[in-house]
Amino acid sequence: MDEDQNFKVRDLSLASQGKKMIEWAEAHMPVLMGLRREYSEKKPLKGMRIAGALHVTKETAVLVRTLIAAGAELSWAGCNPLSTNDAVAAALAEEGISIYAWHGLSTDEFYWALDKVLEISPTLTLDDGADLIFRLHDKHPDLLSEVIGGTEETTTGVIRLRAMHKEGALKYPVIAVNDTPTKWQFDNVYGTGQSALDGVLRATNVLLAGKQLVVAGYGHCGRGIAMRAKGMGARVIVTEVDPVNALKAALEGYSVMKMDEAAEIGDIFITATGMKDVIRKWHFEKMKDGAIIANAGHFDVEINVKELEEIAVSQREIRPNNEEFVLPSGNRVYLLARGRLVNLVAAEGHPSEVMDMSFANQFLALVRLAQGEERLSPGVYLIDQEIDNMIALRKLKSMGFDIDELAPEQLKYLESYQEGT
Ligand code: ADE
Repeated sequence: MDEDQNFKVRDLSLASQGKKMIEWAEAHMPVLMGLRREYSEKKPLKGMRIAGALHVTKETAVLVRTLIAAGAELSWAGCNPLSTNDAVAAALAEEGISIYAWHGLSTDEFYWALDKVLEISPTLTLDDGADLIFRLHDKHPDLLSEVIGGTEETTTGVIRLRAMHKEGALKYPVIAVNDTPTKWQFDNVYGTGQSALDGVLRATNVLLAGKQLVVAGYGHCGRGIAMRAKGMGARVIVTEVDPVNALKAALEGYSVMKMDEAAEIGDIFITATGMKDVIRKWHFEKMKDGAIIANAGHFDVEINVKELEEIAVSQREIRPNNEEFVLPSGNRVYLLARGRLVNLVAAEGHPSEVMDMSFANQFLALVRLAQGEERLSPGVYLIDQEIDNMIALRKLKSMGFDIDELAPEQLKYLESYQEGT
């Protein structure tokens, strides 16, 4: 990297390919594009310096361009060492955007990129997984006084931030974008459902119909994966630790069992728990020859890859994002995307249409923080329901759907308790 360059990407010559990818995403993100048109005149983010750490995808590029159109200055890094799309990163760098991201970062490079991004001395932060916020608090506390607030995109990040706040360690307000219905009810369910299977299919091209597909974790993401796998003819098994989630899975018609048992039966395993060590040494050892293992959770802790490497007698890449491990028994197991987010590493992440709503929420949350009409103390905040309704209505409109409105008498009925039989 040249000292006077404000970016570091893999290969700038990929920029024209990246621009076409972004153009495609823009054509499929009508809500966010509508906000861009509306706010590029008002420029509510003027004077704001945003440090962002979020997967560098074509959809993220649409968000980045929208934040800039609304007046922000920003600096960007990825939030996962393997999820950056190098063509998109090149396109953003060519547009003059300060970006430090490429596919295949080492751990040191990952933190180097976060530090570079923080050089902007942010007034706002945008995270996916909360690594940037932690880095800021931990290594750059001198920057805290400038920060008005931040946003967090994902379940794992919100859990970490709530834990941080509980200990009194969080020093500024953060809006939990993840927790708003127009984010999690769509992105986590339909986005992960489709993109995780997309990743598995791109890395393997196996037929899902008839396969025993084990989904570890029946939260919103696991529910989406199970639903879509069932739709493609897989026989779905769910493993859970939460009795209510497990019961929901059972009543949805899935088999529910312990991972110890599922390990012997499954053809394909997808983890979506947010927990570490969900698939371990003794599970690999029980698996059938040819078992395929992938992770759809934020961190690469769910499948214990270290233990797999330790017990394997050989290891080779058999297809892109697909590594074969031969075990002492002679059985082969296939690990996808090194146990990292299979949807972003082996595929392109969630489709643009669903990121449209997630990123409309991100954008409006940052505008709310920038406008500073309310004084928010450090803590984790939710997005207002009116914003959620507005985004849902705009999305429906873009899809050509219309909904009914309650008449005045119906509204009155809602508030009364006297009318009955
Ligand atoms: N997370 C999941 N899918 C994504 C996408 N397409 N862009 C950014 N973040 C994502």
